[in-house]
Amino acid sequence: MINVFSINELAAVAQALRQGEVIAIPTETVYGLAADISQPQAVQKIFELKNRPVNHPLIIHIADKAQLAQYAINIPSYVERLIDAFWPGPLTFVLEKSNAVSDYVTGGQTTVAIRMPQHTTALSLIRQVGTALAAPSANQFGRISPTHYTHVLDEFNGQVKVLNGGACQVGIESTILDVTQQNKCTLLRLGMIEQVDIEKVLGPDICVSTTQKVSKQVSGTLKYHYAPKKPTFLVSHKSLLMQLKEQYRNNLYLLSFSGQWDEQDFLIKKMSQNHIEYAQALYSSLRDADQSTACAIVVEAPERSEKWLGIWDRLSKASAESLEQFCI
Ligand code: TXA
Ligand code: MG
Repeated sequence: MINVFSINELAAVAQALRQGEVIAIPTETVYGLAADISQPQAVQKIFELKNRPVNHPLIIHIADKAQLAQYAINIPSYVERLIDAFWPGPLTFVLEKSNAVSDYVTGGQTTVAIRMPQHTTALSLIRQVGTALAAPSANQFGRISPTHYTHVLDEFNGQVKVLNGGACQVGIESTILDVTQQNKCTLLRLGMIEQVDIEKVLGPDICVSTTQKVSKQVSGTLKYHYAPKKPTFLVSHKSLLMQLKEQYRNNLYLLSFSGQWDEQDFLIKKMSQNHIEYAQALYSSLRDADQSTACAIVVEAPERSEKWLGIWDRLSKASAESLEQFCI
């Protein structure tokens, strides 16, 4: 396919990015819509393609730990421990930006979100480009992130070039941690790296808190996000599932967790009871459900322990709008 690059074509992709093109790239979490951060027009094109408000800051990706000091300043000493434990990997730091990061990348904010992805192809690409790559998730603003190159093609009707790096292994977006303070840090977005994992590394001296604040600047914290086009319901009780089944005249797509439902009653995707496998499959399952003939999507609520919180966050946001309509 003309708009799909294979990993053998990495040098060509790197060159295109250096020349100011926007290309979707794989990471271990989700595919990102990438541009060289030193190219204002390329960065602007990301906003246009995503229909993203220009004051929403972009996350940037680096390939070496040493590059962090190039793009961020006043880095608290405890960050090094987190880097040793979690990089490369699905943990993003929000830090004060250096002058090497322009305002058009951060939406005018004085901070920048940075991570080093755990994906060999992405890392080699960033090294070949030579500068950090801005890369928000490669989906239309507010929609489900892509975890396969075909999702990117669907999302932009084949109009965006994409580097095929296989299926994303983590499956939901990185955990975002604000580390702008010297003696405490704040989780801005939940992900597969959990609060307890971070606390274990930091020990009792550094307080780790979470924010429930809905910020306009962090699109992942908006209430409606990661949403399929079809009405989507997150359902904990059998009775509500039955009510929906009746309302949608048996035409539902069910992401089943308990495994107790029958294929006669629903279009069904059986989800794993393991949180890592569940996250890996979540977005592609929601996309399949969205493209099915069903009128609505029902997600049977998974377990609610700590390691499922990142998944719960995405499910709650994907279903927030429909639930409100349902309750009215
Ligand atoms: O796993 C990920 O983080 C993926 C892959 C491609 O790396 N990227 C991703 O990008 O999810 P995006 O733009 O969809 O989500 C990044 C989030 C956005 O909600 C953005 O608002 C927030 O990070 N963000 C970026 N810069 C920020 C900053 N300076 N302060 C606070 N939040 C920031
Ligand atoms: Mg996103």
